Amino acid sequence: MKITYYGHASLGIETNGKHFIVDPFITANPLAKHIDIDSLKADYILLTHAHQDHVLDVEAIAGRTGATVICNAEMSYYYEKKGLKAVGMNTGGKMELDGIKIKSTIAFHSSSFADGTYGGNPNGYILESDDKRIYIAGDTALTREMKLIPKTLGDLDLAIFPIGDHFTMGIEDACTAADFVKCDKVLGYHYDTFPPIKIDALEAKSYFSVREKELILLAIGEDMVV
Ligand code: NI
Ligand code: MN
Repeated sequence: MKITYYGHASLGIETNGKHFIVDPFITANPLAKHIDIDSLKADYILLTHAHQDHVLDVEAIAGRTGATVICNAEMSYYYEKKGLKAVGMNTGGKMELDGIKIKSTIAFHSSSFADGTYGGNPNGYILESDDKRIYIAGDTALTREMKLIPKTLGDLDLAIFPIGDHFTMGIEDACTAADFVKCDKVLGYHYDTFPPIKIDALEAKSYFSVREKELILLAIGEDMVV
């Protein structure tokens, strides 16, 4: 599984020959100016909730690529009305697409579109493919429900957590979340984009390392293999 960071909470995931784009917010992110969304491959666009900083570039990418949007039920109705292909899930459900297992998890946050349309409940996702299992938490607070993940699904190879604080978990809660899901390897996202979520990267990494965990922070456009 190859994971590329496109800034904020935007990711590219390549697995089993398919390309996912997660929560595309790229064209309005000044830190991601060097990313050309017209160059991104997408079979699926995976969305955690309807906030603008997660869905801004959905229509542009789906319109160009014909990608199917995977999201919660309410968001799927919204995108189907706009003529896009969408698959709506709901919290706790799982499905399989092209040999890739996708499970929708609990996230404590809110969800509405920029035009005020109700965006359903926010979610995270667990993806299983290529004998790997990753957890994309989405925008969320620390929640005890995270403890259920390793109990029901088994070990994670990577946890992707918001670390910017203010709107989501910050460094300390994300480190506790790593304990809850029993995964010591964390990719941080949802930080630095706006003034309230700026972090000190060195401090954040050392907070994790003294607790015997690894916090990975990718440059925008950089990728890693899980
Ligand atoms: Ni949000
Ligand atoms: Mn957000």
